[in-house]
Amino acid sequence: MNDGNAFTRAEIEAGRRLFAGEWAFLSASGSLRSLPAMAAPEIAFAGRSNVGKSSLINALTGRNALARTSNTPGRTQELIFFGGPEPLVLVDMPGYGYAATAKSKIAAWTELIHDYLRGRATLARVYILVDARHGLKTADDAILDTLSDAAVSHQIVLTKCDQLKEPELAGRIEAVKAAIRKRPAAFPDVIATSSRSGDGVAGLRAAIARLLIERGHLPKRI
Ligand code: GTP
Ligand code: MG
Repeated sequence: MNDGNAFTRAEIEAGRRLFAGEWAFLSASGSLRSLPAMAAPEIAFAGRSNVGKSSLINALTGRNALARTSNTPGRTQELIFFGGPEPLVLVDMPGYGYAATAKSKIAAWTELIHDYLRGRATLARVYILVDARHGLKTADDAILDTLSDAAVSHQIVLTKCDQLKEPELAGRIEAVKAAIRKRPAAFPDVIATSSRSGDGVAGLRAAIARLLIERGHLPKRI
């Protein structure tokens, strides 16, 4: 399913091990002033409200309710930091675009998201989650611009792929790849996932393990 995202068996195994341990809530920040001290590399999950950011963190860590999810857009309202046994922190973010919340609150979240993405030296990569049924939306442009300007490694992850039939999904992947070709700072490949079926989750774990190995945070094992 992950066209162009080929991983070795060793990388898949490194990814499995990375997420196999106990993951736990570390802290929540509603403003830049209350961010935790920078330590381990951070991987952040951004995307429009309700695309499935919190659900994907639960799927990666094999926990049903580590991150709080909801049918209603606007569930995650702060930057939420999760830590595991390895040197890695996962960051769940509030959604952008729309939410069942006051406009002023959304504006504050959006500012926080951009400030965090721009200024966090320990931020190793951002996954931009996009609902496979809907594709890239104009609301994603601002985040992609911020990440490209700040030279932060970032890649598109399609979510809820269980909701599409195979040919439809293949078409969506091609359309997103075509749109992203105009953005040379983004990874050219797209990772297709479903938190519900688990499709693509092992590949995403492997991608994160590869990044940590490349940056010297995890030992390279053959
Ligand atoms: P906000 O925090 O509000 O921005 O939302 P979020 O992006 O964290 O989304 P969340 O994980 O809360 O999921 C939103 C809804 O999508 C929930 O009803 C989930 O059950 C559903 N959902 C998440 N992932 C999947 C998936 O892979 N497949 C399907 N079919 N539904 C999913
Ligand atoms: Mg959420």
